[in-house]
Formats: sequence, C-alpha cells, structure tokens
Amino acid sequence: MNARTTRTLAAALSLTAALAISGCSGSSGSSGSKDDASKPAPTVGDAFMPQPVNDKMAGAFMVIKNDSKTADKLTGVTSTLSDDLQIHETKDQKMQQVPSLNVPANGELKLERGGTHIMFMGLKSTPKVGDKVTVELRFEKADPVKVELDVKERTYTGQAPTSAAGNAH
Ligand code: CU
Repeated sequence: MNARTTRTLAAALSLTAALAISGCSGSSGSSGSKDDASKPAPTVGDAFMPQPVNDKMAGAFMVIKNDSKTADKLTGVTSTLSDDLQIHETKDQKMQQVPSLNVPANGELKLERGGTHIMFMGLKSTPKVGDKVTVELRFEKADPVKVELDVKERTYTGQAPTSAAGNAH
C-alpha cells in the first residue's frame, strides 16, 4: 500500500506540474483594452444537460457562436445549481479541467459529448428530463451570457435526428 501511495502521489505531482505549465499561458489578465466597437456578443444554441445520474456531477453542452471579428474566450460558468462549475476538455477519453476555451472570431465553440463541456461538481438538486437549468457564461471580452439548458435523456447527444425506426419513445 505504501509503495502504491507513493507512486500515485508522484503521478499526481507531475500531473499538477504539467497543468501548471499549460495553465500559465493565455490566462494573463490583460484588462482595459480599447476596442469596444468590435466587442464580441456571443449567442448560444442547442444548450442541454443530460439528466444527471445523481447529485455528484452533471455535464452541459452547447454551441457558442461568435459573429464578431474579435476572438474571445470562455473563462468561467456559474449557476445556482452548483457552486463549482468547471470547463473540461476530453483528451484520450479522460476529462481534464482547463482555464478557458477559445471562441474563434466569426466562428463557434462547440461543447459536445465526448469533447469539451461544462461540468457541474456537486449539485444542490438533481434535475429531471424536462427541467431547465440556468447558467451564466463568462467571457474574457464579451458580457456574461445567460443560457437556459434543457434537461434531456441521459443518452441525448444534441439535435437528435428523427428516427422512424423502432424507438418506443
Ligand atoms: Cu467533465
């Protein structure tokens, strides 16, 4: 048990170091830029949350569109459902927290299953299919955007194609 603990600890430490290095770039808070004219005003579509299994965690997915010619970054998310919302990306089928995600100019940021997503850590209640969950997205440049998530079936992957073949409901 001891050797194993030591090894796990070493792995955790090197992971922390790697995260610290990658986390350093990009998140230097340069405030007070001048370009209000081209300030991004992102719009959000297809926002949903698969019904959480329990009150431990939940994911949220959406498409964030940026029609301005200024690139922006999603830097944080808040919600009344949880005090700890994180931005995750999926690498080699493992989730890891990232400080921000790019929202390209004249482009979009897709949060989709199996990829980048918003993660609720610790829920104050467990939403059910048909419920709505409100979140507020925070950006580096744009004003915060309020988004209503539709709570969907656990298997929902967004924009479900209407399949005539054999689904009971
Ligand atoms: Cu996650």
